[in-house]
Amino acid sequence: MLTGDSLRGDYREIIGKSSQIFDVLQQIENLADTPLRVVVYGETGTGKDLIARALHENSGRSGEMVSVNCAAIQENLLESELFGHEKGAFTSANTRHIGRFERAHKGTLFLDEITEMPLSMQPKLLRAIETGEIERVGGEKLIAMDVRIVAATNRDLAQAVKDGLFREDLYYRLNMASVSLPTLSERLEDIEDLVVYFLEKHRLSCASGVSEIAPSTLALLKSYSWPGNVRELENAIERASCFAKGEILLPEHLPEEIRMCQKRPVNSLKELLTSENEQEMSFPFGTTLEAVEETFICKTLAWLDGNRTKTANMLGIGIRTLQRKLNRYGF
Ligand SMILES: Nc1ncnc2c1ncn2[C@@H]1O[C@H](COP(=O)(O)OP(=O)(O)OP(=O)(O)O)[C@@H](O)[C@H]1O
Ligand SMILES: [Mg+2]
Repeated sequence: MLTGDSLRGDYREIIGKSSQIFDVLQQIENLADTPLRVVVYGETGTGKDLIARALHENSGRSGEMVSVNCAAIQENLLESELFGHEKGAFTSANTRHIGRFERAHKGTLFLDEITEMPLSMQPKLLRAIETGEIERVGGEKLIAMDVRIVAATNRDLAQAVKDGLFREDLYYRLNMASVSLPTLSERLEDIEDLVVYFLEKHRLSCASGVSEIAPSTLALLKSYSWPGNVRELENAIERASCFAKGEILLPEHLPEEIRMCQKRPVNSLKELLTSENEQEMSFPFGTTLEAVEETFICKTLAWLDGNRTKTANMLGIGIRTLQRKLNRYGF
């Protein structure tokens, strides 16, 4: 939970103290009660649904947030799902159906996986946005709507425009503002708080008595690459808390793919850097030197089974320097 003085909204469900998460919350704070349409970008499991909900809940809008997963609804049903239909509009339309646009009146329509919206549907969405009115399939009248749209995607929407998969005019209408979510491996310092939060969240369903995280478990969690981001971490912690018998969360409770990082023997720093794990050691342009150092130290520590002396030797720093840095990272 982040409770910076500068933030007025309620973000209790968004865990993290990293500067990356603080930036995201700051953006939500600036955007939530504006009418601007927002696209939330982020890899799978980074929290796009959570952020869309925070944008809605801090918007002051009185209606509901209604979600549509553009990838999950068949192309021929999407129009009626979005705009509704009148009785008799097509063979199986036995009753009038109120679409999600209408249900989101005075609230927020969350268009998830927007990049997957079929090209055939895009002009209809564009028209609804431009006129502020919708027409039910088979209907004759236009219905005025007050709907704020938030969209999300794990792909590059601008690239989809270049590839001819997404209309440019619709892109500009939707992307009035954007929020880009960091991957979990870009904010490793949030892992401990997230683990504590997920342990608590799943305590009852797993009848778990875990109240402590072993330092070696934390080192391991910080050394993993997290391709499935926060969702993968949540699943790992839920599973681990069901397996753990005692009060301490140990590496053996974690899924094998995470433990594998630690088990693989590493003889030298050179080998670590040139191993097939190399990709886990690459950093996106713009990563701070501090984040690079922290990740690097934690990975080395994890790969050496949590042995601090060996880690200090391998990194060519004194044990006390290592200790100090680890304290700063919360070990
Ligand atoms: N910062 C966070 N704090 C607490 N929980 C989080 C955070 N980010 C994500 N989660 C949790 O992780 C899980 C995945 O998040 P969410 O469904 O929002 O991801 P997503 O980006 O929409 O994924 P996808 O692209 O697969 O739809 C959810 O259970 C969510 O509550
Ligand atoms: Mg999602």
